[in-house]
Amino acid sequence: MRLTYTSDVWWKNAVVYCLDVETFKDGNGDGVGDFRGLTQQIDYLAGLGVTCLWLMPFFPTPNRDDGYDITDFYSIDPRLGTLGDFVEFMRTAHDRGMRVIADLVVNHTSDQHPWFKESRKSKNSPLRDWYVWSDKPEPDDPSKVVFPDKEDSLWEWDNRSKQYYLHSFYKHQPDLNVANPEVRDEITRILGFWMELGLSGFRVDAVPFLIENVDPKLPDPHEFLQDMRAFMTRRKGGSILLGEVNVPYEDLVQYFGDGLGDQVTMCFDFISMQKAWLSLARQNAGPLADALRERPKPPKDGQWAMFLRNHDELTLDKLTDEERQEVFDAFGPEKDMQIFGRGLRRRLPTMLGGDLRRVKMAYSLLFSLPGTPVIFYGEEIGMGENLDEEGRLAVRVPMQWTRDGGFSPAEPVREVPEGSFAPDRVNVADQKRDTASLLRWFQLLIERYRECPELAWGTYTVLDAGHHAVFAHRCDADGATVVVAHNLCDTAVDAELELAGLEGQQLTDLLVDGTLDVSADAKVKLPLEPHGCRWLRASPPEIAPEDAGVMSQ
Ligand code: NOJ
Repeated sequence: MRLTYTSDVWWKNAVVYCLDVETFKDGNGDGVGDFRGLTQQIDYLAGLGVTCLWLMPFFPTPNRDDGYDITDFYSIDPRLGTLGDFVEFMRTAHDRGMRVIADLVVNHTSDQHPWFKESRKSKNSPLRDWYVWSDKPEPDDPSKVVFPDKEDSLWEWDNRSKQYYLHSFYKHQPDLNVANPEVRDEITRILGFWMELGLSGFRVDAVPFLIENVDPKLPDPHEFLQDMRAFMTRRKGGSILLGEVNVPYEDLVQYFGDGLGDQVTMCFDFISMQKAWLSLARQNAGPLADALRERPKPPKDGQWAMFLRNHDELTLDKLTDEERQEVFDAFGPEKDMQIFGRGLRRRLPTMLGGDLRRVKMAYSLLFSLPGTPVIFYGEEIGMGENLDEEGRLAVRVPMQWTRDGGFSPAEPVREVPEGSFAPDRVNVADQKRDTASLLRWFQLLIERYRECPELAWGTYTVLDAGHHAVFAHRCDADGATVVVAHNLCDTAVDAELELAGLEGQQLTDLLVDGTLDVSADAKVKLPLEPHGCRWLRASPPEIAPEDAGVMSQ
């Protein structure tokens, strides 16, 4: 596997870091994070090994859905800086070798967007068809309401123009009508605008809603995704769409562009994420193993985006009621930790009881799973949530830089947690000096992940490890193999693997010192500590392990 090739198809083994400019670093001392603050922290992100930043919405907004309610797609929320600050940030990120993608939130706008204000003026407004209007609030399905704490219908009555408008999310977020060619053109202009300013792609918000909830129904909703992707490829060959597509695997393949790969470049793997949490709760590898065995292969150059937590609730909507309850019982038993009846508004370390060994194992699992890892800011230092903040904002607290917070000299936009996850206990500065810290662990995992393109590029096989608590898999590419094992339980376990084709080879540990020999009949016994994890490179006796990877071929 040539590095020149893997760097062309850069997204397939990228390390994506999601952050909200608002909560990352305040550069002008007003309590709100901004582009100037973020720019000052670029070396921290580069040092961590991040290769691609994903910026959450940074556009003008009334902020009723934390910026996912936009009033102008072509400028910057003045609280976060100016277009000039944005361009300086882009230049600095590129200088440090990082690409940048941003949220593309075009399923809806804010109801304060000038387009909607115009559209709702009357049934004859020139922008009437930019949104989805109807005389009847139909079709409606309360089970499809995404935020059931605030909404009970997908339609809202507009008294001025005497029709209902569709809103897949909050009522202050009217759905754009992408069946209208003018709307599609405008979306293309938005893509072109930000790509011209240097973006390498977009994380596309709410993809199924975007193409399905329109009027009239599109004969082929996926054509729109094809058009977007083709436009982007024309403008910039290596640009990507990273899709938020939380649907079952069998429905999901079509979002990649079934077989062709001409739609969304990468999709988040919501299914294996949820099954991973079930496996962690049960201390049993079965659910995750089954999901990955069933997972369809993305088209050539497509990829799965792997994650354990993101900026939203930990959604468990694809588990059965009983399974969801198991995860709730294990990781969020209190009502206040749960949200929307389907998820948890917590970060990973608090859910795992602050057990650093277990937290490290969970992230080792994330970085070794086949796909592109996506992390949410603060995961690398094990930040916790603040349940005093409303709803999903609990996990969107300011980044903890130093013992006294270090996010801003002023009263911060949101409160950091107190107690054992407060900044004096969890912060970047301390962890930089501590070789055993989670931050250092992330750096090691990222370095190894980048050195082992087999993990992201290879053919993976989920192995039978001879013990229910062990999740083991191997990744093979161009004659090189990496074997990985994770012990999900809190007692030591000996896994027994059968590694066909590796008879007589040596396995070299990549995270610690150590080697193991694969027997002549392809078996190996693999001791694992409680919540232990091992990444191992296979090499024939005559080849040094350093020379056995695909990178060195
Ligand atoms: C999905 C985003 O991840 C979420 O934060 C937002 O509230 C909804 N889309 C609506 O834009």
